[in-house]
Amino acid sequence: MDWGLKNRLARIIKPETGHTVMLAVDHGYFLGPTSGLEIPGKTIKPLLPYADSLMLTRGVLRTSVDPNNDIPIVLRVSGGNSIVGDDLSNESITTNIEEAIRLNVCAMTLSIYVGSKYEHQTLINLSELVNEGEKYGIPVLAVTAVGKEMGRGAKYLALACRIAAELGAHFVKTYYCEGFEKVVKTCPVPIIIAGGKKIPEHDALKLAFNAIQKGACGVDMGRNIFQSNHPVAMIQAVRSIVHKKASVDKAFELFNSKIKMQSVS
Ligand code: R5P
Repeated sequence: MDWGLKNRLARIIKPETGHTVMLAVDHGYFLGPTSGLEIPGKTIKPLLPYADSLMLTRGVLRTSVDPNNDIPIVLRVSGGNSIVGDDLSNESITTNIEEAIRLNVCAMTLSIYVGSKYEHQTLINLSELVNEGEKYGIPVLAVTAVGKEMGRGAKYLALACRIAAELGAHFVKTYYCEGFEKVVKTCPVPIIIAGGKKIPEHDALKLAFNAIQKGACGVDMGRNIFQSNHPVAMIQAVRSIVHKKASVDKAFELFNSKIKMQSVS
């Protein structure tokens, strides 16, 4: 791995702890104005001091993030599909490498849909993106997307993560599942988990805790942070688990104490 690529990865996965808290706000690329992200800039700004990187599209980056900011950017470069279209897996590369370089990104990301109608196309997207990224030292994060017909069990996720790593992804984003340690063990590159649909805060903290315990390198959480009634308190509680080895109860205490502090200030 070359120096630039390693350096970019080290800006996302913090060498001090070996872990990362990524903030995912790319949902609009196929979901439109997702609840909590209607005005992206308003959602993102107060969370930035607590995120190790920001995952988003070029449209939201250009319009909603101040360029005088040094947050590492993980740029979503795939799309062309929507929640109301025929097949979510029909995804292509939407943003070229020159644009990623102009935007000074730390990594590029796309989804793969293993087991779907467009599996081949999305795996070739990944391979070609890795080829481009390697030329310029930009790492690639593969997201193992799960459509309605696709599994979420360890067997399926281990298959999808391993394929992503074999095709050259430098890190992989997937879902937490029963038997998650198998997914981590059989994937030779770091694994980060998505948060998934909004669940109660204590449960989301437990999810993050279990994932880290079982070998995840970090979280790339979206809805469980920005759809919380207290997103700033929530991201700080998630951070305490990922970077400071806090227990679920300690992190939840921190969440509640941050809410109290915010309500008096
Ligand atoms: C989905 O493909 C997107 O990459 C989202 O960023 C991802 O699902 C993570 O967000 P959440 O924690 O809301 O699941």
